[in-house]
Amino acid sequence: EMDSIKLGKKSAAYIAVDENIQDNQVIGIGSGSTIVYAAERIAQKVKEEKLKLVCIPTSFQARQLILDNGLTLSDLERNPELDVALDGADEVDSRFNLIKGGGGCLTQEKIVASCSKKFIVIADFRKDSQVLGEHYTRGIPIEVIPMAYKPIMRKIKTLYGGSLELRMARAKAGPLITDNGNFIIDWKFESGDHDWKKVNTELLMIPGIVETGLFINMANKAYFGMQDGTI
Ligand code: A5P
Repeated sequence: EMDSIKLGKKSAAYIAVDENIQDNQVIGIGSGSTIVYAAERIAQKVKEEKLKLVCIPTSFQARQLILDNGLTLSDLERNPELDVALDGADEVDSRFNLIKGGGGCLTQEKIVASCSKKFIVIADFRKDSQVLGEHYTRGIPIEVIPMAYKPIMRKIKTLYGGSLELRMARAKAGPLITDNGNFIIDWKFESGDHDWKKVNTELLMIPGIVETGLFINMANKAYFGMQDGTI
C-alpha cells in the first residue's frame, strides 16, 4: 500500500480519536485497515491519560485488535449502549450514505453502530464520493443465509439489474463464510440515480437477507485523511 494512503488512514484515525474519545466511554471498534490506527491511538491515550474505556468489537478482527492493544473488551450484553462507534468505510457519498462490508463484517458493524449515540467514519481520501459507485467499484456487500443465496441473487437482478456474485474465500476453495456463519453476495449495481434508503428497505424485506452494506442515516461525521496528512 502506498505511503500516502497509509498516511491518510492514520491521520483520519488519530484525529477522530483525539476529537471524540473521552474518559469513561463505551466505544465501538470497527473493522478493516483504517481502524487499526484508531485502536493504536486509543491505546496510547489510555496509557498516557489513564482513561477508563470499554471497547465493543464489530468482528473477529476487531476483537483481536482490542486484545492486542491491551484495551478492555466487552460486548452488547454488558454494554448495550455505546457513546461512540468508530469504523472505516468503502465509500461515503455527499449525503453520508455509506457502503461498508468490503471486509465482510457489515452485519456486526451495523448492529454496533446502531447502538451508539455517535457513529464516526474514518477513511482515506479515496473513499470520498459524490455518489455511491463513483470510486468504489466492488459493489454493495449483502450478507445472506447460505441456503438462500441463489434465489436472493435472482430477485435482486430482477428488481434492480446489475450483476451479482457470491464472494469466494481467498485461501480455500468455496464461498467466504462471515463471522456469523453466512455468505456474502456482492451486488454491482448499475450507475444512475438510486434512492438508497428505499433500495435498502426493499432489500431487507427479501427473506434470507441478513443485512446490507448500505448504511443510511447512520454516520454523524466522516474524517477523510488526505495524501499530505491533512483532514
Ligand atoms: C469491513 O467489513 C468494512 O466495512 C470496512 O470497514 C471497510 O471495508 C473499510 O476498510 P478499510 O479501512 O480497510 O478501508
